[in-house]
Parts: sequence; structure tokens; C-alpha cells
Amino acid sequence: MTKNYVITGANRGIGLALVKELAKDSNNRVFATARDPSNAKDLSDFAKEHSNVEVIQLKDTTSVEATDEAVAAVEAKLGKDEGIDVLIPNAGVSYSFETTLNTSPEVYKDTYNINVIGNLITFQKFYKLLLKSNNREVFFTSSVGGSITGFIPHPISPYASTKSVINYLVRAFNVDLKNEGFKVVAFHPGLVGTDLGNVAIEKAVNGDFELAKKLYGLITPEESAHGIVENIIKGLSQGKIDVDHLWSYDGTQLQW
Ligand SMILES: NC(=O)c1ccc[n+]([C@@H]2O[C@H](COP(=O)([O-])OP(=O)(O)OC[C@H]3O[C@@H](n4cnc5c(N)ncnc54)[C@H](OP(=O)(O)O)[C@@H]3O)[C@@H](O)[C@H]2O)c1
Repeated sequence: MTKNYVITGANRGIGLALVKELAKDSNNRVFATARDPSNAKDLSDFAKEHSNVEVIQLKDTTSVEATDEAVAAVEAKLGKDEGIDVLIPNAGVSYSFETTLNTSPEVYKDTYNINVIGNLITFQKFYKLLLKSNNREVFFTSSVGGSITGFIPHPISPYASTKSVINYLVRAFNVDLKNEGFKVVAFHPGLVGTDLGNVAIEKAVNGDFELAKKLYGLITPEESAHGIVENIIKGLSQGKIDVDHLWSYDGTQLQW
């Protein structure tokens, strides 16, 4: 039976690697969003070669109108009674490495808008398509950086604090939507060598990737995506992970 996925921020990084990993299973149909499909060459080329991948324009996850358009575009491709089985709100940014005191309010607002409000809108708007499926699973790309108990002392406050909020929202969704059979998971994809991850490595260890591997277990997008699919997405249906904890891509439990 076909399983339908929606992944945002799928033109590069972890999102693109997830599309490729999920597409390996011909029972999966992946709707991959990109702000500008005409500029998303890697994703578009992959979709051309894989009939179970469709590129959907989502101009800006922080825009209600743009998200409505993306939902309508996905809906138009689904059968009459067909819904979305799995939603992965994944789009995110991290570009500031000042101390908490010195980070401008604008950076906090911008990062919060994309990492929190954008992903919140994604769920709110795709909710109606998730309701049409009995699966009703949502996997938010969080980060161990947002952990309060397992605090990481790096100057990533605007970014990390948005992930703390995502963790809160995940817990709240599970309370609100329990009776509707939703399962909402927060997972950490690892420290991944993407555009976003590489900037963090540049700042933390002056771009020394070997050191980053040793210190932080730096992984590739492909390794991350493989772990997310095997340990998080499949792990949920296999009862290996739950909605009450923060999980790493490798299936280990992390502190909230
Ligand atoms: N890399 C890591 O080590 C790491 C660790 C923990 C958590 N994460 C999380 O993993 C997720 C993916 O990150 P990544 O490392 O793959 O980053 P990335 O390579 O920089 O990709 C970020 C993606 O988000 C999209 N995006 C950003 N702002 C958007 C907006 N307003 N509307 C629509 N799309 C938007 C980007 O689209 P454009 O190409 O159009 O900009 C891109 O597709 C993020 O939520 C990040 O916080 C990453």
C-alpha cells in the first residue's frame, strides 16, 4: 500500500537526503517542497528519475498563503479519499553565533519566525490532509541544541531556543491530538555536514571536519537520513521510540 510523505526544505541538506532515502521504497510517494523548484536542480533531477517523488513549490513556510497553495498542490495530486500519512516539517535556519547578550532582537525574531512559526504553519495547514489518513504521524526536525537538561555551551542561542520551543510544541500536540490518533515526534538528526551544519562547524572548530567528527560525531546527510528512516520513522511503528522523549537519528534517547 502506498504511503504518502510531505517533507519541507527538501531541496538540499537533510531534507533532500530524506527524500532520496524514502524514495528507495517504491511503496513510498514523497512530496518534496522547495521555495523555488526552478532553482532546486538536485531535487528536480532526482524527481525526474524517480516517479515516486514530486516537487511541490512552497515559497515560504512562514507564509500562510504560500502554505495553503502548497497544500492545494499536494491535494490535487492525491486521489479523492487519499491523505498524507507522514509529515516532516524540516525547513530551518541557523546563522548567528554571537553570545546571547549580543545577539540582535531581529536575529531572534527571524530565526523564531522560520524555525517555529513556519513549521507550526506547516502542521496547521497539512493537518486536514493528515486527518484523511489513519497513520497521522508528524516528525519535527528538532535538535539536541534545544535541550535544557543537556545544555550545550555554544553560542547558538537564537537557533537552539527555537528548537526548545519545537520540543514544547511537540509535547503539546500530543496532548491536543491524542484522541485523534496523532503521533508527533521530535528528533535530532545528528550533527550533519549540510550548509547549516557546516557553518556551525566552521564557528565551533574553525572548519576542522576531522576534529568535528571526533568531538561531535559529524555525519553525512545520507547517514543522517538513513538513521532517521530506520530508527525514527520505522522505529515509531515498531514501538522502538515514542512521542514522550527526544530521539537521536541513531535511535538513542536524548534529554529534552
Ligand atoms: N545540519 C545539522 O547539523 C542539524 C542539526 C540539528 C538539526 N538540524 C535541523 O535540520 C533541518 C534541516 O537542516 P539542514 O542542515 O538540512 O539545513 P540546510 O541544508 O541549510 O537546509 C535548510 C532547508 O530549509 C529551507 N528553508 C529555510 N528557510 C525557509 C523558509 N522560510 N521557507 C521554506 N524553506 C526554507 C531551505 O530552503 P532554501 O534552499 O530555499 O534556502 C533548505 O531547503 C533544520 O530544521 C535544522 O535546524 C540540522
